[in-house]
Amino acid sequence: MEKAMDMFRHVRHTWSAISVVAGASVLLLAASACGESSLSSGGADGGGDKGSVKLGLLVPLSGVYAPLGRDMRNGFELYLAQHGNKLGGKTVELVVADEGGGPDTGLPAGQKLVTRDQVAAVAGVVNSATAISLRDVVDDAKVPLIVANAGANAITGAKGSPYVYRTSFSNAAVNEAFGATVAKEVAGGKVYAMAPDYLAGQEQIAGFKKTFLAAGGRLAGEQYTPFGKTQDFQPYLSAVRRSGAKAVYAFYSGAEAVSFVKQYAQFGLAGRLPLYGPGFLTEGSVLAAQGDAALGVRTSLHYSTELDNPANKKFVADYTAKYGSSPTVFSVQSWDAATALDKALAKASGGAELAKALGEIGAFEDSPRGPWRFGPNRGPDQPFYQREVRKQGAGLINAVVGELAA
Ligand code: PHB
Repeated sequence: MEKAMDMFRHVRHTWSAISVVAGASVLLLAASACGESSLSSGGADGGGDKGSVKLGLLVPLSGVYAPLGRDMRNGFELYLAQHGNKLGGKTVELVVADEGGGPDTGLPAGQKLVTRDQVAAVAGVVNSATAISLRDVVDDAKVPLIVANAGANAITGAKGSPYVYRTSFSNAAVNEAFGATVAKEVAGGKVYAMAPDYLAGQEQIAGFKKTFLAAGGRLAGEQYTPFGKTQDFQPYLSAVRRSGAKAVYAFYSGAEAVSFVKQYAQFGLAGRLPLYGPGFLTEGSVLAAQGDAALGVRTSLHYSTELDNPANKKFVADYTAKYGSSPTVFSVQSWDAATALDKALAKASGGAELAKALGEIGAFEDSPRGPWRFGPNRGPDQPFYQREVRKQGAGLINAVVGELAA
């Protein structure tokens, strides 16, 4: 938490410096705050043709999390294709920007969407540190941001902005849901925790530790690996072996999840030390690339392609038909962000009114993850599932083996 607050302070400072340099864009910001500049015509609820709306999609098209960015773009564009390229009756002009690997690239890309492109709202954002860096940008400009992945706890915490909503998860929640179950399954054995060394890695492991230790679990060790730079996990896996751990709990995602899980198996740990973690570890194209190395990995997540509900069946079928691969939690979070904008843009065009309309959505009844709604801090109230990687036909799936206590 202290670290997150430090991040906030750092970002506030950075943003003040940037706003001096970018003084000329203040007028543009003010204009877009009224929501008018991003609409070519049409009022809040004029009926019939409601004009058009410009929206920003900020996702990584490069770096460790590029596979997540592709899935998120696909999810958002699938929703648009299913709805005649209209949200809330308005024709969408979508501006896609590259978030890259972190705030160094994600912050300027987000600022460009808000100030230069003057979008009515931004959706996307994978990286927690990037999401935190954008908090003041959208709050100052009064442009709603719908975070469709980044789990940074503070973004929907007490210090959150009324302009920031989240359709994904918080780093705490997805891991807190799993701690007691892992403690029970390893039955007295010690667990080694690992994650990349940045905000999300620290928060994910902190969430796990909270409920794992409270349930009587014990740690064999903890290791944070350089984020976006670690290709060789062998030295860390040697430390795991030396520690006497009986299981490992790891948060890795995207390209890092592929290398980690493959090397875990190559190093001879798969099958000997059960591997647990939040479900990003074995999601979508990452799982396909890991292949049999991922068999048996047990995870916690708010989605699986295997969830048995009609909305998910349709979503998986439509997504697979359009893109030739299965959707992921990232595509769902982004499809739900488009749903949120669809509902809110039917009532408002931008600025404070759009933010307010987002808060009045109520239940997302047709979400592929099952019905959910925004909680008091504008993040999702939702169940988490325990999943296990199993073979199905020629491929691998995250089979749902149970629901985790909230
Ligand atoms: C994050 O930085 O918040 C993050 C990134 C990738 C994930 C989950 C969370 O899969």
